[in-house]
Amino acid sequence: MNYRHQFHAGNFADVLKHAVLVQLLRGMQAKEKGFLYLDTHAGRGGYDLEAAASGLTQPRAPEWPDGIGRLWMRRDLPAELADYLEQVRTFDVCARTEADAAVTKLNHEGHLNAPRFYPGSPRLAQCLLRPQDRAMLYEAQPDEAAALARKFIGAKRVSVHALDGYTGVKAALPSPERRALVLIDPPFEAQEEWSHIIGAITAALTRMPAATLAVWYPLTTRAKLTDFYRQLMAIKTLPPCYTVELTIAGEEAGFKMRGSAVLVINPPWGSEGPMRTLTRFLTPILAQAEGATGGLHWLVPDL
Ligand SMILES: C[S@@+](CC[C@H](N)C(=O)[O-])C[C@H]1O[C@@H](n2cnc3c(N)ncnc32)[C@H](O)[C@@H]1O
Repeated sequence: MNYRHQFHAGNFADVLKHAVLVQLLRGMQAKEKGFLYLDTHAGRGGYDLEAAASGLTQPRAPEWPDGIGRLWMRRDLPAELADYLEQVRTFDVCARTEADAAVTKLNHEGHLNAPRFYPGSPRLAQCLLRPQDRAMLYEAQPDEAAALARKFIGAKRVSVHALDGYTGVKAALPSPERRALVLIDPPFEAQEEWSHIIGAITAALTRMPAATLAVWYPLTTRAKLTDFYRQLMAIKTLPPCYTVELTIAGEEAGFKMRGSAVLVINPPWGSEGPMRTLTRFLTPILAQAEGATGGLHWLVPDL
């Protein structure tokens, strides 16, 4: 496992994934009853964007300027995106205080000109959890898991597990709350990741047919995706599901990863509209070349 999310934190794919996650959490909270938030690939919880630029051995171009960097100063975002941005801003300010990093370079509106810290999915979720909700965070890479555990020392209703997240799906579901939102966000280092995901979806739905599952994946070569969708659609009694997709360029632009998507199974009621709004606004903001597209596509419609 060589993958380190810190180099990608806040990039265009994180923006889509985390904006979608915030909307899913809001959607789950439309009901009073508490739920389990299960993060199968949690990462370290939060990221120092300055450290990301130094790389492990040599400097590397940070990815966040073409992601969260493009939203940071915007004041014209719809409520769904402003909600996500507000969570990121709050995290940035708190993390600066914790790190004793100087809060300098305020602009004329009293805001910071650029983000220094960016939250991972566990922190975003934790910020939004209500007293009746709970989080289980799985991270298999020992250093990342240790950093994650440090961030959540003493945190109420949050447990950190330095274990394989796919095993976590089987261990944690069905949840006693009888409601769950599962985020599956693997690094896609290995070819077998796609089949692990199909296995995890099947296991989750067998244990808890009504669980809401969100799976992030890159839009790279078509072949793997076609195979993934074929295996997905072969799952017996696949519940309603849609994909929220965003590309930053057309195929001819030659980007290795030209976009990403989040598959949402058993989406919370009413989430379609906010997701469409997200992609409509994000597509032109995050576009890097001709042919950028975004949208929501139902794979199994909610009739
Ligand atoms: C894309 S990152 C996660 C980012 C995080 N979900 C976020 O949005 O902030 C993927 C993480 O999965 C971890 N990982 C890889 N294989 C794993 C497995 N089988 N179980 C749990 N974690 C794993 C990696 O170490 C990495 O930290």
